[in-house]
Amino acid sequence: MPKAAAVHYACSGCGYTTGKWLGRCSACGEWGTLVEERAAPGGRGAPAPGRAGPLLRLVDVEASDAERLSTGVSELDRVLGGGLVPASLVLVSGDPGIGKSTLLLMALRAMSAEQKVVLVTGEESAAQVKLRAERLGGGGDVSILAETNLDEVCATLEQERPAVAVVDSVQTLYAPELGSAPGSVGQVREAAGRLLRLAKEERIAVFLVGHVTKDGAVAGPRVLEHLVDCVLQFEGDRYRAHRVLRAVKNRFGSTNELGVFEMTSAGLVGVDDPSLVFGRPEDEQPGSAVACALEGTRPIVLEIQALVAKTDLAMPRRVATGVDPKRLSMIVAVLGRHAGVALGQSDVFVNVAGGVRIDEPGADLAVAVAIASAARGVPVRRGVACLGEIGLTGRLRPVAQVERRLSECEKLGFAEAIVPEGTGPHGKIRLVAADTLRRAIAGGLGAHRPSEG
Ligand SMILES: Nc1ncnc2c1ncn2[C@@H]1O[C@H](COP(=O)(O)OP(=O)(O)OP(=O)(O)O)[C@@H](O)[C@H]1O
Ligand SMILES: [Mg+2]
Repeated sequence: MPKAAAVHYACSGCGYTTGKWLGRCSACGEWGTLVEERAAPGGRGAPAPGRAGPLLRLVDVEASDAERLSTGVSELDRVLGGGLVPASLVLVSGDPGIGKSTLLLMALRAMSAEQKVVLVTGEESAAQVKLRAERLGGGGDVSILAETNLDEVCATLEQERPAVAVVDSVQTLYAPELGSAPGSVGQVREAAGRLLRLAKEERIAVFLVGHVTKDGAVAGPRVLEHLVDCVLQFEGDRYRAHRVLRAVKNRFGSTNELGVFEMTSAGLVGVDDPSLVFGRPEDEQPGSAVACALEGTRPIVLEIQALVAKTDLAMPRRVATGVDPKRLSMIVAVLGRHAGVALGQSDVFVNVAGGVRIDEPGADLAVAVAIASAARGVPVRRGVACLGEIGLTGRLRPVAQVERRLSECEKLGFAEAIVPEGTGPHGKIRLVAADTLRRAIAGGLGAHRPSEG
């Protein structure tokens, strides 16, 4: 009797596989994520004995960093760490409609002037891509392959050997022999694995477009993120024009770099000076403060907005957009305990302008000052920026690379900055040094000025 095809169940969140179905994945703890998959045919059998390969001395390996290709989109180059590394696999993920296809089409078009480039589209027809290209100002010398069969995609790329290929998206590819639906764990893993081999063997730089789940993680198994060389995340408010591209993982560069774009009818336009866009509060209103965050090599001045509203809820809400919610809870607690801003009966909402996310603590003080300003109904004095990290004791701690941040604030026309004590003078910007959060708030809201440095 022939043996039935082996069936196993794979978690669509983390890629864990098991022989029997479970309601909850025992690896990542998610509910209802296990889906049936058929194992690829061609049984395991006894493994063939391997052949020993030659060893290479690392000093003899030839490699140069000068090989990077410019993508023609300077903000994308910046996030990649100075350009695209040949033979690398880059995953670009982001919410639906954020502009992934637009960005990559623009990069392909620019690169097509000097390199052979191929766009594999499984999501849109060639005609749809053409329409987009026309809107963006022409298709350059981009070749297009509208195909979802993984075997055919790989065979075509192997034959054509372009320098750069874009696969839009990895979730639409399917290997017929696997039997499961496109986008399932097995299919995505197979597609990424084969494209990785192709990228390294044929020296093709491959961009994979990946969809995200509703909580923002790349859909498909986590292994996808481990396989690829770079993971770029495209974020921002879909309803507003600004988009932020950041590297979540980069084997060839820093993960702190930000690329900022504006979506226009002619495509995505890089924003050279994001501080001008995000750091201009409309006018003096309570609940708005200005921070200068350091993202990679670039300081960015950002407006932080806060709303404090009375509530009858037993557990008042703390809603953070663009700030870590745990950090917000900590700042709210320090405000209550050490700065006399009691928020126990209030909901607190904090928002970073432009859909940017701040991960570093240098913006703590601006968040705290925005909340205090909203709670008291007193606007922050005009032309004041806030730099500083807040400790649990209510003291201010110095921030890294304060000179660069102050230069950026000065460039934008800020006349004063509230800074932690011990910050040396800098340029023409007037420093208001404060040792504690309480004094910093007093300085920012203009009640009285603490010691001036
Ligand atoms: N004529 C236009 N003028 C301005 N913006 C436009 C225009 N047409 C499209 N857009 C913008 O382009 C975005 C869609 O971009 P794109 O198709 O590159 O997104 P995507 O991330 O690839 O989406 P998906 O996940 O659906 O593939 C829209 O959300 C819209 O903001
Ligand atoms: Mg798309």
